[in-house]
Amino acid sequence: MCAKIYCIVVAAGSGKRFGSPLPKQFCQLGGRPVLMTAIDRLRRFLPESEILLVLNRDYFGDWARMCGEHGFLSPEVIAGGDTRWQSVKNALCAIGECSEEDIVMVHDGARPLVMQSTLEELVGAIRCGSHGAIPVVDVTDSLRMLDGGCRSHAVDRACYRAVQTPQAFRLSLLRSAYELPYTTDMTDDASVMDAAGYSNPVLVAGHEATLKITRPQDLDWVELIMSSIDGQA
Ligand code: C5P
Repeated sequence: MCAKIYCIVVAAGSGKRFGSPLPKQFCQLGGRPVLMTAIDRLRRFLPESEILLVLNRDYFGDWARMCGEHGFLSPEVIAGGDTRWQSVKNALCAIGECSEEDIVMVHDGARPLVMQSTLEELVGAIRCGSHGAIPVVDVTDSLRMLDGGCRSHAVDRACYRAVQTPQAFRLSLLRSAYELPYTTDMTDDASVMDAAGYSNPVLVAGHEATLKITRPQDLDWVELIMSSIDGQA
């Protein structure tokens, strides 16, 4: 039997840093909520996958209304938790029975521009036997480590990579990693896998277009990038 691919799109954050009353995943990008672009691209590039959408329960009604307004078919919606970790865990619990070969991808709904090449590399790495694969990009700014107080020192940026989503894993292993108690350094799924001993995920090429919308001006950037990548993915 062919392995199933599940895509968990986490979008239950309140986006406090964004500073708008509406969480960033519902803000307008190209005339519709950011989240619809992220979901549509996953559907386009991974048509065989099953998508689960994680939302804060307070926004279930707003999302249903937005889907109605845009004629958008929502994936199954799961209630999120107080942390990203809890939101992912809720979705993993909702998946039910799985086979050893099944794959899960976890994606931030605030990153609308998922790229086809990244998805292909992620799925390819897991199908080749890796337990996990994550997209990374080079760090282009110089970096400094904070030493406490007002002291800091330069570190070699060549030793670091910035990590994006989607992140892909063997579903059964990610589930077992999510049995561990939460710690604040579990900011993504690869860090949860690390804590469970499944370290060294395959690093695949992320894409600068896959930036996470964090500040309001990021929406303008993403809209510009979207118009330039349209048709080439
Ligand atoms: O806050 P940050 O931008 O790092 O969140 C990354 C992703 O995790 C976002 O898509 C956000 O909606 C999601 N998230 C979530 N549940 C939370 C917190 C964040 O699904 N409690």
